[in-house]
Amino acid sequence: MTDMSADTISVPAQWRAQHPTTPHLTGLLDYHTLYKESIHFPSTFWAKQARELLSFTQDFHTTSIGSLENGDNAWFVGGGLNACFNCVDRHAIQDPHRAALIYEPDDPADGSRIITYGELLRHVSRLAGVLRGRGVKKGDIVTIYMPMIPEAVMAVLACARIGAVHSVVFAGFSAEALGDRIQDANSAVVITTDEGRRGGRTISTKRVVDEAARECPQVTTVLVYKRTGADIPWMAGRDLWWDEEMKQYPAYTPPEVMDSEDYLFLLYTSGSTGKPKGVFHSTAGYLLGAAVTGKYVFDIHPQDRFFCSGDIGWITGHTYVVYAPLALGCTSIIFEGTPTYPSHTRFWEIVQKHACTHFYGAPTAFRLLKRSIAKENLQNIDTSQLRVLGSVGEPIAPEVWKWYYDFMGNENAVVTDTYWQTETGSHIIAACAGVTPMKPGSATLPCLGIDLAIIDPVTGEELKGNQVEGVLAIKQPWPSMARTIRGNHDRYMDSYFNVYKGYYFTGDAAFRDQDGYYWIRGRVDDVVNVSGHRLSTSEIEGAIIEHPGVAEAAIIGVPDELTGQAINAIVSLKNDQTPETTAKELVIKVRTTIGPFAAPKKVLVVRDLPKTRSGKIVRRILRKALTGENEFGDTSTLADPSVLDEILEAVASS
Ligand code: PRX
Repeated sequence: MTDMSADTISVPAQWRAQHPTTPHLTGLLDYHTLYKESIHFPSTFWAKQARELLSFTQDFHTTSIGSLENGDNAWFVGGGLNACFNCVDRHAIQDPHRAALIYEPDDPADGSRIITYGELLRHVSRLAGVLRGRGVKKGDIVTIYMPMIPEAVMAVLACARIGAVHSVVFAGFSAEALGDRIQDANSAVVITTDEGRRGGRTISTKRVVDEAARECPQVTTVLVYKRTGADIPWMAGRDLWWDEEMKQYPAYTPPEVMDSEDYLFLLYTSGSTGKPKGVFHSTAGYLLGAAVTGKYVFDIHPQDRFFCSGDIGWITGHTYVVYAPLALGCTSIIFEGTPTYPSHTRFWEIVQKHACTHFYGAPTAFRLLKRSIAKENLQNIDTSQLRVLGSVGEPIAPEVWKWYYDFMGNENAVVTDTYWQTETGSHIIAACAGVTPMKPGSATLPCLGIDLAIIDPVTGEELKGNQVEGVLAIKQPWPSMARTIRGNHDRYMDSYFNVYKGYYFTGDAAFRDQDGYYWIRGRVDDVVNVSGHRLSTSEIEGAIIEHPGVAEAAIIGVPDELTGQAINAIVSLKNDQTPETTAKELVIKVRTTIGPFAAPKKVLVVRDLPKTRSGKIVRRILRKALTGENEFGDTSTLADPSVLDEILEAVASS
């Protein structure tokens, strides 16, 4: 790869010179050598990484078994370890005073809080005691519904400590959605707060849990951390105050030795059809994926202060707020608020205040900030400690990439656009910081151990060589891949392994350019991405169709300047309905069934939807109508072609 195309940005010359220690990779050649080893000798490579980066109490005897074809992969077989020990104890033993977490509250006037590794060990131990005291055993699933505060991280780690499986539900989900997840996980214990604070507003977490738990008779304990001190409803016997319980348990609880393949956590994500799927991740494989990508993609060192602005309710927060930074023993910033509160320069102020070396965020936030911030606003803010900037969740347009590189990093920090998924556990395609030449808009090259394929969607054949476009797949197992979908292994097989036999199917389309760089084009299924939130069109349709006045509905993701994609609902109503009122009710219906972030931006009421003669809704035509395209292709298959004109009229006047 000597003759790179013109759109390449090299790593700034001063990057290595200014590095506070020594980068983990010496250069691009180093990456290529390691990458080749990881693909040609995966067992040797992964075994070495696992023994180097993780502490096993019992060494594994077999690096990996199983195949993508059978979806039965297991890693580090025979190994025994504890994820919490790896993330807390071993650093607390070595350097108890090093900051593990820095809490930056929603309101900066409230002041930040530092939690050292030594303190974290004591908190997590006590909490582990509390959970055990309430009957939580190895393998039980504990649901966590909390805002971004250090206690959320403690809750996750306390579960891991005693071998309970955590299921974190994003605190923006509605009571109904939370209830479904508590029920599906069969959790007896839920951990929450009295309230949360976000962007100056209050989130009523406990109230949502109360409502959700009404439908979940197995819930025996709701552990409540007092965040605001608000007066909240209380169910004696079931509800317990975090602080009062913690006092009753010792400051050290030994970690439970887990099998490498024991599940570490469950995380729900949207699929292309039906109900959200609960994805299970393993202990050793997942943790290694987090550690390896933290080391090589982000170049994390123990002295670093890593600021990932993702929420712990999504995979980004799991892997890059909790597991990667803590497994590698650096400091993780826990930010409770939003990018625009109290001002649009909040991210920069946090980076300055805590001398952050890394910042990791989503293009949806960058687009918003790009509109509102001028270079002058940043003049007096010192972000010179920043070394690595990460982007995640959706494609980043080249002009947004360049803005990020300039406004956030002053062209001193490198940008790594990280492509991955809930199911992959850790990065799949990303630049290795300080090593990979960057191309704005491209996620660049595969991560270590990730063997990618571009497949022709029609023939199912792999497209070899460069300058090819198709669906993105992975052709070798990797340690941090999800192991199953809770209660539905068939769905796991059908979603990922039965689409193209012998490959893991990502659901995304991608282009591999002349330099072997990857450009993610977006989903090829019915998954949409709104502000980095992964949503399923059929799930939203399911919520809308429950409204008694709706005859038919289709949800379409349309491009949106700010949120990447936006949800549009096109509905036909039963005869006696008033369109305006019903449209409003439908927005509320989605908010209460799923959460505010899934609410349609636009609801178009039409007489009928475009359908084939057999009654199938033709979404392709709706998508084109909504995005202003007027080339509809063959419309002769429509049962009633006049419907299309009416829809175009409705779009024009909306
Ligand atoms: O479509 C891809 C998009 O987000 C999907 C995964 O969503 P989720 O499981 O919620 O995880 C998001 C955080 C890892 C992918 O199938 N996606 C994620 N990262 C990128 C991306 N699309 C383009 N570029 C990215 N860097």
